Amino acid sequence: MAVIGDDMREVDRVIAQRLNSGVPLVGQVSSYIIAAGGKRLRPALLLLCCGAMGFNGVQRINLAAVVEFIHTATLLHDDVVDDSALRRGNATANETFGNPASVLVGDFMYSRAFQMMVEVGDMRIMAVLADATNVIAEGEVLQLMNMHNAELDEVNYLQVIRSKTAKLFEASARVGAILSGGSPALEAACADYGQALGTAFQVIDDVLDYAGDSEVMGKSLGDDLREGKATLPLIAAMQRGTPEERALVKSAIEAGDCDRLHEVIQVVRRTGALDVAREAAGAEAARAVTAARQLPPGPHADCLIELATALLQRQS
Ligand code: IPE
Ligand code: IPE
Ligand code: MG
Ligand code: MG
Repeated sequence: MAVIGDDMREVDRVIAQRLNSGVPLVGQVSSYIIAAGGKRLRPALLLLCCGAMGFNGVQRINLAAVVEFIHTATLLHDDVVDDSALRRGNATANETFGNPASVLVGDFMYSRAFQMMVEVGDMRIMAVLADATNVIAEGEVLQLMNMHNAELDEVNYLQVIRSKTAKLFEASARVGAILSGGSPALEAACADYGQALGTAFQVIDDVLDYAGDSEVMGKSLGDDLREGKATLPLIAAMQRGTPEERALVKSAIEAGDCDRLHEVIQVVRRTGALDVAREAAGAEAARAVTAARQLPPGPHADCLIELATALLQRQS
């Protein structure tokens, strides 16, 4: 993403600067997770959409930092909810500082993001980001309600991932378009791109929970099964497995049975469920490419197209 390399360095500078707080623990927890890196995909999306429309006003940097703050706040909360131990190759903030500090600093980051978007002063952008934050929270609650439910189907699964993950990708791209003064058609193309990319991104993430490498991912594997999450690999495995295999996966989801992770992985592999999930991600990525082709052609649009293809091969 060399085309936005300078912008991304600026974003990192603004992020570091805006984590300031008179309360030392706020700075400790927030710089702990921010300094661990992360792919910075959501700011990249916002900046690429601005770039595609030839916009280079300074507010693009602030809003790119805003979407990364919102994302980081969701991670701080998500790792508490999922009781996860590893994030971005390090012990999670909840492991290091405890659940209370993670939740409260997550709140700090959400509210810092809202302070910064108020400074930008665009009512439509505030509406898009407020709605997205609200929908993410709903998605996480919906997923909580679905835990240990082996009857979940692909439609319910998609509803969760469109909310918890794709919504922020969609909002990031849409904000880029609004900020750039794009036409309603261009705004819709950016939003469609973000939604499709974000959906593909989460489906691949769910594949990697069974087929990835923890070292490369910087996260623990098998967390989804431990939590009884019926993600697409498991839904597809149940659809394609023998009655015995279906019973095994069903009981593993209902019990959140990590002891049988190895057996479940074998069923997931044998039934070709990972390929089913990869194909679903591929269809979303293709939808993203179609949307990106509606943007003004150039290096930024090309980068958006490449991103959609590269995402299918991602290992981290
Ligand atoms: C992690 O998102 C949460 C999911 C939506 C799967 P990322 O994989 O974008 O996390 P970082 O920012 O690169 O660590
Ligand atoms: C992440 O969902 C989505 C949000 C942070 C809102 P997951 O729980 O599936 O992602 P990881 O695996 O912890 O990154
Ligand atoms: Mg999680
Ligand atoms: Mg989660």
